[in-house]
This record gives sequence, structure tokens and C-alpha cells, in this order.
Amino acid sequence: MEIRSFTEYQKTLTTVPTPCPLLPGQLFAHQQSINKTVRQPAHGTSLTTPDARKHGTWELGTALADALSLTLLAEQLFEKELIMSRTLKVVALSGGTYRPSRTLVLTQAVLAELAQQLPIESHLIELGDIARPLGSALSRAELGAEVEAELQAIENADLLIVAAPVYRGSYPGLLKHLFDLIDLNALIDTPVLLAATGGSERHALVLDHQLRPLFSFFQALTLPIGVYATEADFANYQITSEPLKARIRLAADRATALFGVHAKPLLKIA
Ligand SMILES: Cc1cc2nc3c(=O)[nH]c(=O)nc-3n(C[C@H](O)[C@H](O)[C@H](O)COP(=O)(O)O)c2cc1C
Repeated sequence: MEIRSFTEYQKTLTTVPTPCPLLPGQLFAHQQSINKTVRQPAHGTSLTTPDARKHGTWELGTALADALSLTLLAEQLFEKELIMSRTLKVVALSGGTYRPSRTLVLTQAVLAELAQQLPIESHLIELGDIARPLGSALSRAELGAEVEAELQAIENADLLIVAAPVYRGSYPGLLKHLFDLIDLNALIDTPVLLAATGGSERHALVLDHQLRPLFSFFQALTLPIGVYATEADFANYQITSEPLKARIRLAADRATALFGVHAKPLLKIA
């Protein structure tokens, strides 16, 4: 059975076994914990009920729900379940234009780590694959269907990963050109995990001084933990550095917490 709206969800509550096994105090504590994590779901998303059942929504007896004004709580539970159970659209953009590419390897590693922790549907875009048609288009109207589809994927992502190689102290101009064609309202409140690779540590601040301001323009939510790697972190285009692997794990951990599925406390390290 698939539930597509809160009203449909409410109808299912009539099947709840009573009495409610949660005491009022427990319900309140539960509500408090939910309040911290609830986010608005996107319209048109759906939820399969078995996941919701597992997490206690079924424990709300209808009689008690009336007495304790639990409609709001039920709605919050529903929305939490929605966020937890639907697959997140994660779009990863690797801003390298050469192959092999350390930026691509880093992007894939971040995606893989996220996939360990979140139910994601990932879409990887390599700038190199669309570089030429993208570069020759001066406006969105000039784009072919393939590149247009990639831009739309970026605009509709639940979470973006943007990774760039450092070119002349910044991200590549072609990557900026891509974002010049992105709708200026499309990324409002979209979480963005930033990553970059450079020849050395010297340009590590590219994340904070170049990429972050770009996404501030879009009013996107750049995640506090980004990932910067240097050529020394790779051997034969494989990540060999343990600190880099730890940084990728940390970045994914923090991103996961944003979607409200982490019960464990966050690591307090930078
Ligand atoms: C045109 C160009 C400019 C570069 N400029 C810088 C730079 O300013 N700072 C830096 O640390 N690395 C610089 N690099 C090195 C790349 O950032 C680094 O090798 C990166 O990992 C390449 O990513 P890729 O393997 O995905 O292509 C430059 C490389 C190229 C090709």
C-alpha cells in the first residue's frame, strides 16, 4: 500500500491497535526528538507503510490521539517517516574535464560513503562529458536535450555534491559557466557538499573562498564540512590517504545527520 498524502495516512490510523502502548510522557519525549529532525517533504513524494509501522506510528491509538491532540505529532511522524523512507536524489557533479580524474575519484568516494548511510538514488555528472556542447551554448535555449537534462537533474536534487579541480587558484571556468545557466532560484535551500582537488595544500581554501560564495549566491545550504584532496592523497588515481578517507566519512556523516536519520551524536571534530 502506498500513502501519498497526510489525509490518506490519517485514514490508516483507524487500523491502529488500541490501547496505545506509549505513555503520554513518552509521546512528549518522542515528539521533542522528532521536532528536531522534521523537514518538509517535497510534494508528490510517496511512502510505503511498512517502514512507517516499524517506527512507532502504529503505536498511536486513535482514542489517545484525540485526547492528547496528537494530530500534529502524527503529522510530524508521517513527515519524518517520509524523509527517512523515501530515496534521496543525490546529484554529484565532478568538475574535472580530463580522464583519468582525481576529482572524479573523490566524487565517487563521497557518493559511495553517502550510499552507505542514506537511501540514495545517485546521478553522477562528469563535466568532461558535456564540456563541449555546454561551452558552446551562450544561453539555456541553445543547449541540446542531453545537457539540458543534466542541468535539470542538478536543479531537482535533494542533495548536491559539487567537486572541482583547482585551476589557477579557483574552480574551472567551465564549471562556472554551467552554474551561470542554472535557474537562479532552483538551488534555494538545497544542501551542497563541496569538494575539491588541487596540486598541493596551498589552495585548500578554494572550498571556502571560491566554491562556497558561488552557492551562497544561489541561497543553497553549503554543508560545513567539505573535502579537499591533493595529488599526494592518491596513487594511480586511487585514494590512499587515511586522513582523506576519514574526512570523506565525516563529510558524509554530517550530511546524513541533516536528513534526520542519525540517532548517534555527531563527532565533535573538525
Ligand atoms: C589548468 C590547470 C590549472 C591548475 N591550477 C592549480 C592551482 O592553481 N592550484 C593547485 O593546487 N593545483 C592546480 N592544478 C592542479 C589540479 O588542480 C590537480 O592536479 C587536480 O587534482 C586535477 O584534477 P583532475 O585529476 O580531476 O583533473 C591545475 C591543473 C590544471 C590542469
